[in-house]
Amino acid sequence: MNRTYTQDTIKKGGKKVCVKGWVAGRRDHGKIIFLDLRDERGVLQVVVTPQANQAYEQAGRCRSEWVIEIEGTVQKRPDSMVQKDMATGSVELIADQVNILSEAKTPPFALDTSGYEIGEEKRLQYRYLDLRRERLQKNIRERSRIVHFFRQKLLEQGFVEIETPLLTKSTPEGARDFLVPSRLSPGTFYALPQSPQQYKQLLQVAGFERYFQLARALRDEDPRGDRQAEHTQLDVEMSFVDREDVLSLIEALYRELVSSLFPQKNMAGDPFPRLTYKEAMEKYGTDKPDLRKNKEDKDELAFVFVTDFPAFEWDEKGKRWDATHNPFSRSQAKSVEELKTNPKNVLSHQYDLALNGFEIAGGSLREYRPDMLEAALEIMGHSKEQARERFGHMLEAVEYGVPPHGGFAGGVDRLCAILFNEPNIREVIAFPKTGDNRDLMMQAPDSVSEDQLLELHLSLRKNKNAS
Ligand code: AMO
Repeated sequence: MNRTYTQDTIKKGGKKVCVKGWVAGRRDHGKIIFLDLRDERGVLQVVVTPQANQAYEQAGRCRSEWVIEIEGTVQKRPDSMVQKDMATGSVELIADQVNILSEAKTPPFALDTSGYEIGEEKRLQYRYLDLRRERLQKNIRERSRIVHFFRQKLLEQGFVEIETPLLTKSTPEGARDFLVPSRLSPGTFYALPQSPQQYKQLLQVAGFERYFQLARALRDEDPRGDRQAEHTQLDVEMSFVDREDVLSLIEALYRELVSSLFPQKNMAGDPFPRLTYKEAMEKYGTDKPDLRKNKEDKDELAFVFVTDFPAFEWDEKGKRWDATHNPFSRSQAKSVEELKTNPKNVLSHQYDLALNGFEIAGGSLREYRPDMLEAALEIMGHSKEQARERFGHMLEAVEYGVPPHGGFAGGVDRLCAILFNEPNIREVIAFPKTGDNRDLMMQAPDSVSEDQLLELHLSLRKNKNAS
């Protein structure tokens, strides 16, 4: 018999069906056994009576989280017995046959609570069980709808989805790189991308005028509530655009996302307010101000654009100017002289989108003028030779006919956490890492065998403190 999802049983009164799922609970009432059967779409009450011999015997063995299939007849409940808080509350299944597909040990923690009360280490160690809880099921499914929305909207507008490499060269976004040793080129390393920034710009040179990707970005930095070593970006780049084109695309995307998928939310500001970086810092002391009127209201969303960031910031440790966002942003300086003589005061065509006090997207128009790009890299301490060595492909590409271009990347994890009222992005990621970047379920990072090291031409330095 074909499988019926629990939620569809409400349309099958009087019919024979087969349902499959997990035992969410079992109650013995006198002679009758009640099972709550949970599948990915809901929960159904199953009634097992001693008349159904085989079913009764098997149901008696069932424990929480066992995986079973049940054949039986859907029965409408009398009006007085309808369970209004349950999607399938108008029916129950009278079991004829119960088959146990997989038994389960007692889970290490409760699965029918929100989970906030459980130690996170345990939750992450048994994430495949933690994910069974209703809240996380909902978060991960809603996240999928958000990603689908973005993808669909951009495809409709002629954007092309293009995957860019994970094994690449350092793409600086201000964090440390994760490195991967090369087996075939001894002594050299790939870097995992901190973002697809350079590739998406090179795709503009290649003539893909509207690119997007739901890209994984990897940064070796200390995780926080709103930061993970790997995060997902909605990454977008466009040719022949000015700032207004990009900001209006961003605003339309996020506005429509909220109004179609989260109609209960109220968005303050139409259009989204805009502040320059200077205004934001002077008025709010931060470049991601929280403009909500009532911070207790979980449905209030206050988007705000922050624009015109300074092009450079002084890095006291490295004693050099560094890009405030990324080194490829277009400066507002009119000439190389202006850029070089006054780096402190030069603004760039950079913008961020903040939501309720978090930076949820950032982008810029890019420097496509070869002399300005070279000058900017020089200001950031890269000699001509170093710049050629590190970014030669970018410097060369802009000499082959490059359209003025710009784009942005939106943080998918942060957006989801805010929309779902979660305090931490780990709650919206299926398999997140701990505060010290470990995957407790897979036990990663992990040591590797001598043979693997040998193949990679690596030997480990002895820890100074080790005996
Ligand atoms: P940026 O570094 O600002 O820009 O990243 C874009 C957006 O990604 C989110 N984000 C993160 N989310 C979770 N964990 C992290 N560690 C993390 N780091 C960033 C933020 C941020 O706004 N290439 C540029 C974009 C561009 O210029 O087009 C970039 O990566 O929400």
